[in-house]
Amino acid sequence: MFKNSVLTTIICAIGWIPLLAQQGLNKLDPAMEHKIDSVLNMMTLREKVGQMNQYSGGFEVTGTPSDLDTKAKIEKLKNGELGSMLNVLGAKNTREYQELVMNNSRMKIPLLFGYDVIHGYRTITPVPLGETASWDLKLIEESAALAAKESAAAGLHWTFAPMIDVSRDARWGRIMEGAGEDPYLVAMAGVARIKGLQGDDLADEATIAACAKHFAGYGFAEAGRDYNTVNVGDSELHNAILYPFKKANEAGVATFMNSFNELDGIPSTGNEYLQRKILKGKWGFKGFIVSDWASIAEMITHGFVANSDEAAQKAAIAGSDMDMEGHIYEASLEKLVKSKKVDEGIVDDAVRRILRVKFALGLFDNPYKYSDEKREKQVLLADENLAKAREIARKSIVLLKNEGSILPLKKDIGSIAVIGPLADDKDSPIGNWRAQGESNSAVSVLEGVQAAVSKKTKINHAKGADLGMGVRTFLKPLQINTTDTSGFDKAVDAAKNSDVVVMVLGEDAFQTGEGRSQTDVKLRGVQQELLDAVAGVNDNIVLVLMNGRPLDIVKPSNMSRAVVETWFLGSEAGNAIADVLFGDYNPSGKLPVSFPRAVGQEPLYYNQKTTGRPSNPSDVTYSAYTDLQRDAFYPFGFGLSYTTFAYSEISLSAPSFNKGGNITASVEVTNTGNTTGREVVQLYIHDQVASRTRPVRELRDFSLVDLKPGETKTVQFEIDEETLEFYTANKTWEAEPGEFKLFIGTNSVDTRETSFTLN
Ligand code: NOJ
Repeated sequence: MFKNSVLTTIICAIGWIPLLAQQGLNKLDPAMEHKIDSVLNMMTLREKVGQMNQYSGGFEVTGTPSDLDTKAKIEKLKNGELGSMLNVLGAKNTREYQELVMNNSRMKIPLLFGYDVIHGYRTITPVPLGETASWDLKLIEESAALAAKESAAAGLHWTFAPMIDVSRDARWGRIMEGAGEDPYLVAMAGVARIKGLQGDDLADEATIAACAKHFAGYGFAEAGRDYNTVNVGDSELHNAILYPFKKANEAGVATFMNSFNELDGIPSTGNEYLQRKILKGKWGFKGFIVSDWASIAEMITHGFVANSDEAAQKAAIAGSDMDMEGHIYEASLEKLVKSKKVDEGIVDDAVRRILRVKFALGLFDNPYKYSDEKREKQVLLADENLAKAREIARKSIVLLKNEGSILPLKKDIGSIAVIGPLADDKDSPIGNWRAQGESNSAVSVLEGVQAAVSKKTKINHAKGADLGMGVRTFLKPLQINTTDTSGFDKAVDAAKNSDVVVMVLGEDAFQTGEGRSQTDVKLRGVQQELLDAVAGVNDNIVLVLMNGRPLDIVKPSNMSRAVVETWFLGSEAGNAIADVLFGDYNPSGKLPVSFPRAVGQEPLYYNQKTTGRPSNPSDVTYSAYTDLQRDAFYPFGFGLSYTTFAYSEISLSAPSFNKGGNITASVEVTNTGNTTGREVVQLYIHDQVASRTRPVRELRDFSLVDLKPGETKTVQFEIDEETLEFYTANKTWEAEPGEFKLFIGTNSVDTRETSFTLN
C-alpha cells in the first residue's frame, strides 16, 4: 500500500466507492466531487499545472522525442509536477514510476499511465477498420474489453482509442485506425469500443479509460495528406465529423484528444468553439481533453501564435486540459496565471477533470492496483485471448468475389499454391499501431493453410516478389517499389503444379498508419506483374488481400476468381483466413469503406449529395467524370457469403408518423443457399427536402441475422425521430417533417425501397 498522507487520510475518511459505475463519466457524484475539491484546495498552482503535464516514457514515440534527460524527469515526478506519462509499459515499470510519485511528492496524486492500445495490447486483433467490417458491435466491444484486460494487467490506466475520425479518403494512411466513411457506423463502432474498454465501472481491474480522438476533423485532411488543413462548413462539421464524438460523449467516454489539424483556420488544439463551447458546454462533457503529441507547441508552427506563452494561453482558454509531450504548460501556464492572462479557474477546471478520471479509475484507493506482475503474466497472450482474436479476425473478413463458388476450398484438395510477398509474412498481419504485439508473431497465411489441409494435400509455396518495403521502423518513411522479378519463375512453377492458387498480395503493415499518406492506392512494387505471370498458367486464383486502406483492385480483382479482403487481422490472421478459405467460417463481413475504381475518385464515399446535376451518361455537363464511372468498384456495405440471401419488399407499420411517435419497417430475409450464414441487413434513409441538403442515402440502422439454409427471419427496425434527425439550419439536432425514402438491403447500393412521411 502507498504511504499515508494528508490526502489519503481525507480520501479514506470520506470513503471511496465506484460511484460512476455504468455511467462512464456522465453522471457526477456529489461525494466524489467533494473529494476532488478537497484535493484541489490543497494544491499549489505549480502542482496544479503539473497535473496538466504529460511526458512520454521514451518508447514508441510518434513525434519529436523529449529532450529532457531522465534525471530531470525524475525530479518532476518526485515534485508532483507530472500528472501523466505515456509509453511507460509493464506492471514493473509503471509501479516504479508510481512509487517515485507516491513516495516523494507532497500531494501524492497518482500518475495516470496512457498508451496507444489501438487493436490489442499483446494479443493483436484486426486493425480497427478491418474489425469494423464485422459490423458486429458485441464482438467489437469484446475485442476492446480484451485489449483493456491485457493493458490493465500491464499497468496501464488509459488508452488513446478509439479513433472515431470519419475518413473518406483512401490516400490518408490513418484510415486503418478508424471505422471508415460512415458517421453512423463510426459512431456505433466507437461506442462499442468505449463500452468494451471502460466496461461498467472504470475502477474495475480489467477496464481502462478510453479516449475519443481526434477532436476534430483530422480525417478530413486536404487530399488525404496527414496533418493537413481542413475546411468544412457547419453542416459537414456537425453531421459528418462531430456526430461520432457526440455519441462517444453520451456513452460516457472518460477523455477526448484534440487534433493536429486546423479547422477553418483555427488549430483544433486552440479551438474554443469546439472544446469549450460544444464539447464541455453544450454536450456537458465531464472528463478531460488531452492535446495530441505536442499539438499545443505546434500552434506556433501553424502560425496561429507567436510563442510558448501565447500557445499555452490559447490552448488553456480553448479547453485543452493536458499537454502531451509539448512542455508548453509547464513552461508558461504558472506565469500566465500569475500575470492574470489565464484565469486560475481555467486551471482548476482542467485539474478537476483530470482528478475525476483518476478517482473514477480507483487510483486514489490504490495507485498500484493495475501494476500486478503476476496478473500481467497470466493475462497477456492467454489461450482464451488468442481464441477470441481468431473469432474476431474471421468475422472481420470480407468476401468480395466468388466466381463459380470456387470458395470454400476442399481440405483434401490435391494441391494448392500459396504465393505472394505476404504469403508467409508473420509480421504484416500484426499491422501498424501494434502496441506490444511482437514482431513476426502472427500466424501467416501459409501456416494457416498448412494447419487446415489434409495430409495428402501438396502445398507449393513461393514468395514471388517483395512488397517493395525497405525501412520498416515506426517513424521512418518507407522505401517503395522494388523491381526484382527473380522470384517469378518459382512462383509460376508453383502455380503450374497446383489445382488452385492462393495469391496473398497487398500492403506492408507500416504502409498505413500515421504519416502514411499516398498518392496511389494500387498494389505496389511488382505485385501486379507477379499476378500477371501466375495468372498466365493457372486460372483458379483466389486473391487474398492484406491492407489497411481501400485499394484500387480493379485489375487484380478482374483477374481472380475469388477475392478475400482480410485487412491486417492480428495474431491469429492465418488461422482465421484458413477458416474462411476452407469453409469453417462462412464469411459475413461488409466493407466499412468504398473501394475505388481509381485513386482520382478520392475522397469517395457512398453518402454523397445529389447535387443540382446528378450524373447523366449522355451529357458531359453533369457531376461525373468523363473518363470513368463515378461509383465505387466495391461499394460501402458490400460483402458476399457462401450462401445467398433473398429480401422481401419492405413493409411499414404505417405510411406516416407524427413527431414523438414511430413506425416499424420490416423485411423478410431468407437464406436461399445451402450453407448457414450471417447477413448484415442495412437500413438507409434519404430526407428528400431539408433545410440543409442531405446525402443520397445515409445508414441509420443495421441488424445481424443468422440463417440456416431455407430459413426465413423477419428483421424489424423501429424508425423514430432519432433515426431521422440531423444538424439542421436551426443549428440543432432535430428531425424535419416531410417525405423520406427508406432503403433496406444487403449493401449501400443493392436495396429494397419505399417511402414514408414524418408529420
Ligand atoms: C500522435 C497521434 O496522432 C495520436 O493519435 C497518438 O495517440 C499520440 N501520437 C500518442 O502516441
